Formats: sequence, C-alpha cells, structure tokens
Amino acid sequence: MQLRLQKILSQAGVASRRAAEKLVADGRVTVNGATVREMGTKADPAADDIRVDGRRVEGPERLRYILLNKPVGYVTTRSDPQRRPTVVDLLGGVREYVYPVGRLDYDTEGLLLLTNDGDLAAWLTHPRHGVERTYEARVAGVPDERDLDRLRTGIPLDGRRTLPADVELLTRGRGGPAQAGHHDRQGGDSVLRIIIREGRKRQVRRMCEAVGHPVRLLRRVRIGPLSDRRLKPGDWRELTEQEIAALRRACRRPPAAASPREA
Ligand code: URA
Repeated sequence: MQLRLQKILSQAGVASRRAAEKLVADGRVTVNGATVREMGTKADPAADDIRVDGRRVEGPERLRYILLNKPVGYVTTRSDPQRRPTVVDLLGGVREYVYPVGRLDYDTEGLLLLTNDGDLAAWLTHPRHGVERTYEARVAGVPDERDLDRLRTGIPLDGRRTLPADVELLTRGRGGPAQAGHHDRQGGDSVLRIIIREGRKRQVRRMCEAVGHPVRLLRRVRIGPLSDRRLKPGDWRELTEQEIAALRRACRRPPAAASPREA
C-alpha cells in the first residue's frame, strides 16, 4: 500500500510527522537508494527500501501468504547446507521472512505454502487438524484393487500405520496387472490420486513402494482448499482474502474420522 513518507516514518516510530517532514526536506531519506526531497512522496513500506541516514526503516510487518508451485530440484528450506537451490530462491521481491509450511521432497513438484503468519503455519502443520493434501503420483505398473485398498486402509511405516487415505486410479498403464513386476517406463506407468491427512517423511513414496509400485513422478495438486492448475512450476502468487479465510476454516474443522481399526 502506498503511503506518504512522513506517515510511514511516523508509523515506524522514527519521528513525528512534523520532524519526518524535516528529515525529508534535509535530504536524509532515501527510497530504493534515491534521495527523496519532495514532500508528499509516496512509497510502499512492504515493498520499498526506505532509509533514514542509511538506516533501514522497518514498517509494521505485513503478513504474507504465498502459494508456490515448487519445481523438482529445489529444497524446501530457507537455507541448505549443501548449497542446493531452495524454494526461497524462487521468491524474488518478497522481503518478509516467509518460511515453508510443511515440506515437499527435492524431487517432488507442486503446491507449497509459504508465510510469516506463525499461528496459521502452526495450525496447518499440526497433525490433529488433518488438513488434506492431494497428490498425483505416476507409479510403475498397474496397482490392482488389493493394492489400492491397502493404500486406503493404511500401510505400516516405521511401526505405525498411515491414516486412512483416499486413493483413486486416474490412469491405468498399458499392460494390466499380469505384467506387474515388469515395469516398463513409458506405457506401463499408472497415475494415482492420493489424499492424505498427515505429513510423514516421504510418505506417498514409501506407501507406493510398499505395495510394489514405486513412484516415478510426484506432484502435490491441493492443500486443503488451495489448488491452482494454472500456476506453472517456479511461479508463485499471493493468496486471495477468500483463500486465507478458507484456510482458517479448514484448520478449525474437526479431524477426519478415525478408521474402525484405530477406534
Ligand atoms: N510424500 C512424499 O513422498 N513426498 C513428498 O514430497 C510429499 C509427500
């Protein structure tokens, strides 16, 4: 939001309006590196670099809610000890300290939320709230009904069964179940839609591996109420007010019903 410089300076606690006007007139204020002397000049405290005597003026921090389509080959962290590209490298122009909510593997593509709203981030990642994540997984071979049912009811991982998942076969690879085990890379792959309500390490990959159909490609296409088929890998956008409200509602929903086995 564009505001008059003297208002930004007074809101940031640098000086009173009147004293701020003098700072501007005296040439002590810069916006994005250029000295501003004109009274009434406007700037955006969230986007512009505003300084007094070279010292950065911090505005009241704006809450940011960013939906990124993460490409393969980026790590979901703010900094990587191995110096691989990180998702934050893709957020040109975002000055706020946003961080990823949850994780996508280095080799997974798809939707990732980044925010500096700590409360919302904590809610979304809390397993009790069971916000649904939807994945499309290209897997080797053709899972049969039994495989799909095992994925749905739960797979033991590290001694604990995965929560019930919604699993649907979207595309059946050529060859049919008779060829299971002879996974041919082109026509033999199938595509599954998998909805899970928890986020364990490499969960979808390990689930599919466990039923004998390893994942070739994995993409997250939905986080609770958020989806965007038009957002290209590497691109990001701000959430709309409606999407933020929908996310908050999704957090408040009671957790998904437990399976009979766990009840
Ligand atoms: N499950 C996985 O296996 N990997 C991801 O990145 C997300 C979910």
